[in-house]
Amino acid sequence: MHDDCKEITELILKAAEAAHPETDGGAEPPYAQAVEWPVSCTVGPGLEGAIACESSVGYVNGSKGWLIYRGYDIFDLCANSSFEEVSYLLLHGSLPTAQGLDAYKRKLVSYRHLPHTMRMLMGFPLEEMNTMAALRLGTLMMRQKQTFRDEEYGRPDVSDAIGSDEDSIPMEIPPYGEPQAIYEFRDGPGQARDATGLESCYHLISGVATIAAAIARIRQGKLPLEPDPELGHAANFLYMLTGRRPTPVEERVMDVALILHADHGMNASTFACMVVASTLSDIYFSVGSGIGALSGPLHGGANEQVLKTLHTIGDPKRVKEWLNNARAKGQRVMGFGHRVYKAYDPRARVLGPLARHLTCSNKEVLPLFEIAEALESEVVSTLGKEKKIFPNVDFFSGLVYSCMGIPAELFTPVFAVSRVSGWTARVLEYLENNRIFRPRAMYIGPFGKKYVPLDDPSRGGK
Ligand code: CMC
Repeated sequence: MHDDCKEITELILKAAEAAHPETDGGAEPPYAQAVEWPVSCTVGPGLEGAIACESSVGYVNGSKGWLIYRGYDIFDLCANSSFEEVSYLLLHGSLPTAQGLDAYKRKLVSYRHLPHTMRMLMGFPLEEMNTMAALRLGTLMMRQKQTFRDEEYGRPDVSDAIGSDEDSIPMEIPPYGEPQAIYEFRDGPGQARDATGLESCYHLISGVATIAAAIARIRQGKLPLEPDPELGHAANFLYMLTGRRPTPVEERVMDVALILHADHGMNASTFACMVVASTLSDIYFSVGSGIGALSGPLHGGANEQVLKTLHTIGDPKRVKEWLNNARAKGQRVMGFGHRVYKAYDPRARVLGPLARHLTCSNKEVLPLFEIAEALESEVVSTLGKEKKIFPNVDFFSGLVYSCMGIPAELFTPVFAVSRVSGWTARVLEYLENNRIFRPRAMYIGPFGKKYVPLDDPSRGGK
């Protein structure tokens, strides 16, 4: 490890040291054993408390502030591993051997290059689109490439045709409409590739990063960059995004950020992925839904909102007044609170010190970090005491990304670049014993109403 990166590891170890005495004691964690189906549990609005499935991918203990991937503590993984190791761990259930890791890295490198998807994606006005909408579009185009045909119409994708002189392509005359060219296809039309297995997970983990970086470049009026096969996942992502090879510290910090965001229990986007997969749709559609769910400001979209809040506050001295106003209006403070954590989020424990470390040498972001520190202290001493509301993963991540030259509209796509590993791991696990998700709603409407014709004046209505 590069000498400059040792400081980063020390910061993580210190954060772990601070966390453990506060969170290790007390009763055994709940919900950490197999259940007997059908299971009895108390369910609140928003499915709070509902048990959707059993899983050995990861575990969150909100009252203790624990986050565990496949049995390993998040602090331990951040201090010692890489995103490649962690995504392999999530997907396969155990850490890779040196050889296994090497093969996995080569696999990710081979999937980073997405010329067909990129060509299709560049036909859209990405600079005018919401970045998560663009990422979702790109992800679904990866599906098109993987499955090789449009299943609805059974028509192969023209971009997969074997190149030939336009004039020599024979035309067919369909019963209606324009004559169509008859192309020749590499694998022959109708031969869909598997879009549900492990290979698709690798394709997505690798490709979503390429697409997110390309979206950032195109929005800046630049062309997407070819991936660099010499670089690891985190370094290559930063390179494709910013156009320069990251420093060892930037690479290490990006790696840690990707590890921290990789998985988090049955959160909204993971659940969205699993619901879609449970219909035996495929993993591309499933990840597309995850991206949609993650984009919301109550979920992954909060990281972008935090930066807006810090800009709006503008000065650490204005924090108290701003918070009082926000509370009086019933506004939520972005980057705070969590359905599960009623203790300090371990991910914020790591990202906070990293943001402090990076902003020390970044004059532009430092003033925002000072506002963030003041806001954290004010919220913890008020909402923290009253309602156990603490900073979550989204509070400091944007400051960390800003220091690495990542624009705010890319913060949530960066979250997706990492979370695709947890999404795919949980979907694969669930499909082993799949049952379609189908909860109920409590009907609170009337019964027995008689239909009233449209022209009857007694019909009423809105
Ligand atoms: N600011 C102010 N008050 C809050 C906040 C907040 N950020 N979060 C929760 N509360 C209050 C809420 O008003 C409620 O008060 P009362 O009991 O008096 O009505 C109480 O705390 C419990 O809140 P809740 O609505 O039951 O919490 P929830 O579990 O439904 O929502 C949450 C969880 C994350 C959506 C919510 O805390 C929130 O909106 N936070 C801000 C957005 C945010 O930072 N999201 C990122 C979440 S972590 C990473 C991720 O998943 O992407």
